[in-house]
Amino acid sequence: MANNQSFEVEPFTELIGSEIKGVDVSKGLAQEVVEKIRRVLHDRGVVVLRRQNLEPEQQVVFCQQLGPMRVSFMTDLAVPNTPALTVVSNIIKNNRPIGLVDAGALWHADGSYLPNPDMYSVLYALEIPHKDGVALGDTAFLHAAAAYDAMPSDLQEKIDHAEAIHSLSHHIQKKIEANFKAPPVKNDKPDVRHPAVRVHPVTGRRYVYVTEGHTKAIAGLDEAENRVVMQRIAEHVKQPQFIYRHRWQVGDLLIWDNCATQHLAISDYGDLPRRLHRAGISSHH
Ligand SMILES: [Fe+2]
Repeated sequence: MANNQSFEVEPFTELIGSEIKGVDVSKGLAQEVVEKIRRVLHDRGVVVLRRQNLEPEQQVVFCQQLGPMRVSFMTDLAVPNTPALTVVSNIIKNNRPIGLVDAGALWHADGSYLPNPDMYSVLYALEIPHKDGVALGDTAFLHAAAAYDAMPSDLQEKIDHAEAIHSLSHHIQKKIEANFKAPPVKNDKPDVRHPAVRVHPVTGRRYVYVTEGHTKAIAGLDEAENRVVMQRIAEHVKQPQFIYRHRWQVGDLLIWDNCATQHLAISDYGDLPRRLHRAGISSHH
């Protein structure tokens, strides 16, 4: 195990996102290096390690050092012989996409519609579409803890002790309405409730856990008030100071904290091929 050559952190914006330089994941990392990455991740919400060259099993080894992996229920979209990784791709083979298409086309936090959402996600870029030399298919991240801290107090009070209802069927409906491809999954997940404001298990920071993509309603508010409150939350969290927009390069290993952030995949690349390998980590131990 390598302790690695150097470890440099370069912030992307004032509040969110950092590049970590000098770490070669393919060599296998000492756990203390993984813990250093985790500290930056908790601080910044999203980190990228660029120019990695990873076989699926090497991505899995790294992910297991971050915490227990959640094996996706979308088993037919798994990386061959690697059930812990899911293919995210629009590439068609044998008349069907080889991976998840339009994954994350609305603001969301991964797995919020499950009783135990993913704590972290780890996405590794293998093919990135380009047009006129510019990469397409960016992923935008917002810092949900920083956004909570800056929220007007009357809005905080509305959600501080409320529960939010997260729903896969609501998400599929919203995607269809927005002309995205619905995920090829059985729509059989019961709605779940989570606190609308959650406390990060490591940093103790409060963060907004109401998302445009999956939150159907805030329990206890009537329909009209729900519309107003959810609209106000959406407008607040999407302010530019909370956002980092990641422009992908092949070899990027992107890690984000689903407790501290929400994210959005920009679907601007049509049929140009895009392929990434995704992993979900269920907790920090
Ligand atoms: Fe996602």
